[in-house]
Amino acid sequence: MKNIIAFAGSNSRNSINKQLATYASSLVDNVNVTILDLNDYDLPLYGIDLENDKGIPDNANKFLDILKNTDGIILSLAEHNGAYATVFKNLFDWLTRIEAKMFFNKPMLLMATSPGGRGGLTVLEIAKGRFPYHDANIIETFSLPFFGDNFKNGKIVKDDFDEQLKNSVRQFQKSL
Ligand SMILES: Cc1cc2nc3c(=O)[nH]c(=O)nc-3n(C[C@H](O)[C@H](O)[C@H](O)COP(=O)(O)O)c2cc1C
Repeated sequence: MKNIIAFAGSNSRNSINKQLATYASSLVDNVNVTILDLNDYDLPLYGIDLENDKGIPDNANKFLDILKNTDGIILSLAEHNGAYATVFKNLFDWLTRIEAKMFFNKPMLLMATSPGGRGGLTVLEIAKGRFPYHDANIIETFSLPFFGDNFKNGKIVKDDFDEQLKNSVRQFQKSL
């Protein structure tokens, strides 16, 4: 059986992106899913002086190993001021210091959601443009606007968005 990971680019305890990533992962058939939480991979703020003085932190190596060993990635990015949330950018920067091609061509379902009407589309577009330079194999993207209205009790409650996500998951599944 294939193994996939699902996580949010967020460190919020009640992350709406983690909720969306968890739901999307539940739609993938016949895979072992590991839900990750960036709070379990605490990292100091990246800085070249810190790297030169202390080297790469263990948690960055641990996270890179997880990416290397998984068969697929479901990632939902939180949007902060039209960009990655700090916790994700920090992880991204540390990982690229170990291995620039840190997505290892693993099939990826890339998503974003937010409470507002753009559903994190700005950060999604940034990631869609950037991740391929790091060997991301983005199979599908999906954005869910108005999270509070469209997602309840662990699932999407608006049929058109749910159908859209299920189509994206089907493509992701085929690529595994
Ligand atoms: C500093 C900050 C900046 C934010 N900027 C945006 C933004 O640019 N666009 C947006 O849609 N939501 C923005 N939000 C709202 C987030 O989308 C919202 O907090 C969401 O819950 C974040 O995802 P998470 O729950 O997965 O962490 C911002 C929130 C914070 C705290």
